[in-house]
Amino acid sequence: MPDSRADAARLLEIVNSAWMPQALRTAAELGVPDLLADGSRTAADLASASGAHTASLHRLLRALVTIDVLVEDDDGAFALTPMGGLLRADVDGTVRAWTIYQGRDVWDEWGLMREAILTGRSGREIAHGEGGFEPLRDDPRRAATFNSAMAELTRLSARAVVAGWDFGRYPRIADIGGGYGELLGAVLGANPGCRGILFDLPHAVEAAGGHLDKMGVRERCEIVDGSFFEEVPGGADLYVLKSVLHDWDDGRAAEILATVGRAMGPDARLLLVERLMPERMQARPEHRLLARADMNMLVAHAAPERTERQWRDLLGGSGFDVVTITPIPGAATAIEAVPVSAG
Ligand SMILES: C[S@@+](CC[C@H](N)C(=O)[O-])C[C@H]1O[C@@H](n2cnc3c(N)ncnc32)[C@H](O)[C@@H]1O
Repeated sequence: MPDSRADAARLLEIVNSAWMPQALRTAAELGVPDLLADGSRTAADLASASGAHTASLHRLLRALVTIDVLVEDDDGAFALTPMGGLLRADVDGTVRAWTIYQGRDVWDEWGLMREAILTGRSGREIAHGEGGFEPLRDDPRRAATFNSAMAELTRLSARAVVAGWDFGRYPRIADIGGGYGELLGAVLGANPGCRGILFDLPHAVEAAGGHLDKMGVRERCEIVDGSFFEEVPGGADLYVLKSVLHDWDDGRAAEILATVGRAMGPDARLLLVERLMPERMQARPEHRLLARADMNMLVAHAAPERTERQWRDLLGGSGFDVVTITPIPGAATAIEAVPVSAG
């Protein structure tokens, strides 16, 4: 009989891994990484600075050593590793808000995957009684964490997107559902001749001005709030939707494309920046990342990450012709399209 102990160990490592996001989220929320910004500190010192229970915090710190977030020195003080440093608030490449958002704000939604699969509804809707982005409307703390989390993830890929696609051809660029404007800011930063329109719901655009200011592009950017199910600003040469349509099922995504199509002039282009799911999944790290993203969409939005064929079907059925599909290495895929009448 084959020895299944190695398989059991591999499986249990996955099953039992839920402590890690919670440990990371707890450390980030307590501000431990920021308290370690200037060097190592003891558990007692960190506990008194963060208001934590010393013995319990000490155990958390020791646990974080095992996943390469902290190191413990010979005197029992703890310091950040380079990876742990990315849990600090204001460092280049920070993923602090994403860590807190995943571990705190959407943890309950992941726990409802079974119900989501059984019903086709999102875990978010089942948990909160309303789905999509509704839970952000009256919860400024959750909205700020989500918008910062999205900006963090987008920051990690924005340079590659800006380098991998020629935005400079378009004098006026609208970022629809652009959040805090992280991608638009990077595009305008790299293309001083371009102007931008940032469009999103009030929960996002309310704080976007300060964000674009920090990025040095505020004066070239108009900020407009509204819903892309109703109307989006006209007059742009390029309409960018990054990580927007993946939040919606085909019916709702087609409605968004219809609104954007109505705003587009005859020479305007549409650019989707999205993930492409493979036709067939394999047990590979890249596919695992895509599977995580797809399951995230399932529990949060009852919406799918799409294959190239599904993107083509969605766009074709919504009155757009795909012009180019450009992989952005390590980031996403840029899908350029034009309204059929303009093709
Ligand atoms: C996954 S986030 C992507 C944010 C940004 N494009 C990025 O990639 O960093 C989806 C965005 O769509 C926005 N959104 C959701 N519903 C919207 C609506 N009805 N009208 C305008 N924006 C909306 C959300 O507020 C959010 O900023």
